[in-house]
Amino acid sequence: MAADRGAVGSPPRRSAPSSSHQRQRDKMQIPDEKKSTYCDLPIKQQRRKLVQAVKDNPFLIVTGRTGSGKTTQLPKYLYEAGFSKHGTIGVTQPRKVAAISVAQRVAEEMNCSLGSLVGYQVRFDDCSSQDTAIKYMTDGCLLRHMMVDPDLTKFSVIILDEAHERTLTTDILFGLLKKLFQEKSPNRKEHLKVVVMSATIELVGLSAFFGNCPVVDIPGKIFPVKEIFCNLIGPKDKENSSYVNAVVKVTIEIHLNESAGDILVFLTGQSEIERTCELLFQKAESIDYQYDVQDHSIDGLLILPLYGAMPTEQQRRIFLPPPPGIRKCVVSTNISATSLTIDGIRYVVDGGFVKQLNHNPRLGLDMLEVVPISKSEAMQRTGRAGRTSSGTCFRIYNQDFWDQCMPDYMIPEIKRTSLTSVILTLKCLAIHDVIRFPYLERPDEKLILEALKHLYQCDAIDRSGHVTKLGLSMAEFPLSPNLTRAILKAASLDCEDLLLPIAAMLSVESVFIRPGEAEKQEEAELRHQELSSQAGGFNDFATLAIIFEQCKSSPSPSAWCQKHWIHWRCLQSAFRVEGQLREIIRKLKQQPDFPRESFDGPRQEILRRCLCTGYFTNVARR
Ligand code: CDP
Ligand code: MG
Repeated sequence: MAADRGAVGSPPRRSAPSSSHQRQRDKMQIPDEKKSTYCDLPIKQQRRKLVQAVKDNPFLIVTGRTGSGKTTQLPKYLYEAGFSKHGTIGVTQPRKVAAISVAQRVAEEMNCSLGSLVGYQVRFDDCSSQDTAIKYMTDGCLLRHMMVDPDLTKFSVIILDEAHERTLTTDILFGLLKKLFQEKSPNRKEHLKVVVMSATIELVGLSAFFGNCPVVDIPGKIFPVKEIFCNLIGPKDKENSSYVNAVVKVTIEIHLNESAGDILVFLTGQSEIERTCELLFQKAESIDYQYDVQDHSIDGLLILPLYGAMPTEQQRRIFLPPPPGIRKCVVSTNISATSLTIDGIRYVVDGGFVKQLNHNPRLGLDMLEVVPISKSEAMQRTGRAGRTSSGTCFRIYNQDFWDQCMPDYMIPEIKRTSLTSVILTLKCLAIHDVIRFPYLERPDEKLILEALKHLYQCDAIDRSGHVTKLGLSMAEFPLSPNLTRAILKAASLDCEDLLLPIAAMLSVESVFIRPGEAEKQEEAELRHQELSSQAGGFNDFATLAIIFEQCKSSPSPSAWCQKHWIHWRCLQSAFRVEGQLREIIRKLKQQPDFPRESFDGPRQEILRRCLCTGYFTNVARR
């Protein structure tokens, strides 16, 4: 357990042996009655109709409230109806956590081990085998798969899930699949079927896009949810982060004053969630239950964080019912709005904000920004409180915030992020005319041209816009084009060893443990500063490389991590990623025409040159 100290996502571990939360958590197990709940999900009634509709139509849209059983049950129905005889049933998810946790759940329901009949594949982690009939994967993985198998010959059904999220990759997949059917590719198998699933029916144009394909709606019941504006945040608070404190206040008040039922809190990201959990722990611990709780008996609050980068083992306990008399409180990113359903929630605390990737065309950079959620998003969050009984949604903001700051809908990602990676993918798929590609919603032509320019400057495409040999090599890497370009430069100089640790460390979540308690925080910061000063001060990349190397060469890497307040689990992932990147390079280098260069100079100079080759857009002249 020692290595688990402060693992990302674990709520701040308290040293006192009185850690009742910990003990409660350890007691949680999957009860039998829970295992059978999937038998009465709303989708069950539509089973026959759904299977028939998939048989009869190349494209089908399935909509239904979150929690109706779309993600976990439909793939199973199709498997049982024999679809997998013609190939794998592939289900895409925009988020890695959802892909893994849903696969786990379905494997459990089908009584098989994960990676056998039911498996998953996400970036840098493939848990599937020859026998895998139902494969959950991120939409990015399917897109990459299409580069080696553009006709999807290995699949019998492709289910594009969570379509309402409108991620960039899902949008591109829409176009690619439409094209696949339009072109009547000679390799496309007769029986390939495409199902698009969405939690909302707002996808008006989608059926028309797929040749007016049928839409099956799964009616699901929802109990009434009371909506309360707590008025703690107004339009003026759009820019600051006081929402963390507001969320904590509302949550504790619910715990003290409302009758039994679990709480789901919506926040923006990992650090805010960890901070909130820490504050909740402190507050919940100081509650004197004898005096504070009025008319009912609540023993305690079980606080569980949930966010994208969370380790798999920790995600599972989110779904388990709390021990009797304990109220569960899940503090989550937007992932719980539609991607994952947690049962037993009666209270929702809506923090009002979300992290969104926006492209700044002036800087040429994608930036993760905290922005107010849309009204449609707020309604999704509200709905989470009414799944198993009537509930209440507490919105920390006021009516003015709702009216003035929250847009009706989110702008789809394709209209607000850099298109460099996907345009390169399209080029590798021999889709030359990226402007006339069948987009569900056409991105701004400026964004397309900017991406083309960037790719040209990276030597990934030539003057006429065709992908170059280098571009093809770049597409092999599941990394940003900038980083990939730097790695390939290093490989051509035969010194990829310099760059791979950095690339691997950039591909995993932050390795630095930031404990909540003040004194520990100081110690951790001191340790981190020591590491950074070995790297010559403020050089982030060099610090990452030093952490990687020192840990790897240490006789006891996990102890090394503990000593330096570094997440051992993240470093393990980084080691794995480094190995996989090394393997890609090894294969590329076997090609006879792999470019070779030479440069005599100190290692640091070579490293700087490689980084400049990749990150040339971030260079300034002094
Ligand atoms: O996709 P949709 O929102 O329609 O529902 P789903 O994800 O298939 O979830 C159906 C039910 O499965 C939920 O109500 C949860 O009870 C359960 N589930 C779970 O317990 N653990 C998971 N990892 C995923 C789903
Ligand atoms: Mg779902």
